[in-house]
Amino acid sequence: MSTVVSGIRSTGNLHLGNYFGAVKNFIEMQHTHQTFFFIADFHSLTTHPVPGDLHTNVKQVLAEYLACGIDPEKSTIFIQSDIPEIPELYLLLNMNAYLGELERTASFKGKARQQPENVNAGLLTYPVLMAADIIIHKAHFVPVGKDQEQNLEMSRTFARRFNRMYNVETFPIPRAYTFEGKDMVKIPGLDGSGKMGKSEGNAISLAESPASIRKKVMRAVTDTGPTEMHQIKPDVIRNLFTLMEVVSAPDVVSHFDTAYSNCSIRYGDLNKQLAEDIIHFTTPIRTRIEEISKDSVYLSKVAKNGAEKARESASKTLQEVREIIGFRKFY
Ligand code: TYM
Repeated sequence: MSTVVSGIRSTGNLHLGNYFGAVKNFIEMQHTHQTFFFIADFHSLTTHPVPGDLHTNVKQVLAEYLACGIDPEKSTIFIQSDIPEIPELYLLLNMNAYLGELERTASFKGKARQQPENVNAGLLTYPVLMAADIIIHKAHFVPVGKDQEQNLEMSRTFARRFNRMYNVETFPIPRAYTFEGKDMVKIPGLDGSGKMGKSEGNAISLAESPASIRKKVMRAVTDTGPTEMHQIKPDVIRNLFTLMEVVSAPDVVSHFDTAYSNCSIRYGDLNKQLAEDIIHFTTPIRTRIEEISKDSVYLSKVAKNGAEKARESASKTLQEVREIIGFRKFY
């Protein structure tokens, strides 16, 4: 059976981009694949969170995962820092990861620009840790959004490099996963600029209140409106339609599409509809988040079981890797 690994940083609430970029695909795969889903709390250290926040965020993200429908009976759900085999594999992979290739990644360059006072080695080797996360379970598929395409390409490179270096076939070469061969998803933000993201401050989280969703969507960036029939939509407007395509019914989308085409569209109506459809989509998830996050006993049980199952798989791979590299016991 094919194996799937996916993860999310523990730096804040899950948002619509996370859901439609990764979690949705993952949920569907739970039924047909061996699935591992984890919270990347080591990765979140690149931004130096305070200890109290780190713990609270991990707990919140865990509750949110479960509320989305990731099922601990079907998937192994775990917290990255519970698995010491991951940092060990990361160390080993770092020996074959080169400064030039790491410096060239778009995410490193972006982060270095975003936090010039804190360009740490963890940021540089972020793709190596991500590769360790994936290949430690010998994953075949990784459901991620478009923004992770390059990081995933690096994982493929490191897996291939290890296999070639030791002339083994230890690691499958992991592939991005999208249903029906569709393109990897990129959910836009509400500010008209690029992707929805935690650090971009343009996100709608799954736990967000209806009032806050309405406020944000009604303020979404638009333009002055189409002036000619059948005009091509500029990015800011296409972004709103992309959001609508994931949360609204197809006839709603085509209604506004036609209205755009014949210049009768009113952005006020579009935003209002979009806000209500987002609320309709997030409300059941939000209710479950509220319930699950109160249940510390359940959350501990899920994390403990997940850690046990993930360690079993991770330690098997690591043992194999150690032997291949030449670490053999003297005693
Ligand atoms: P993170 O925490 O930024 O995001 C988690 C997942 O959500 C997807 N995503 C999006 N997809 C579409 N549109 C968006 N606007 C959007 N924003 C976020 C991301 O592509 C991702 O799939 N490096 C990863 C975490 C990670 C990981 C891994 C993922 C660490 N190790 C191993 C998979 C496998 C990250 O920062 O994702």
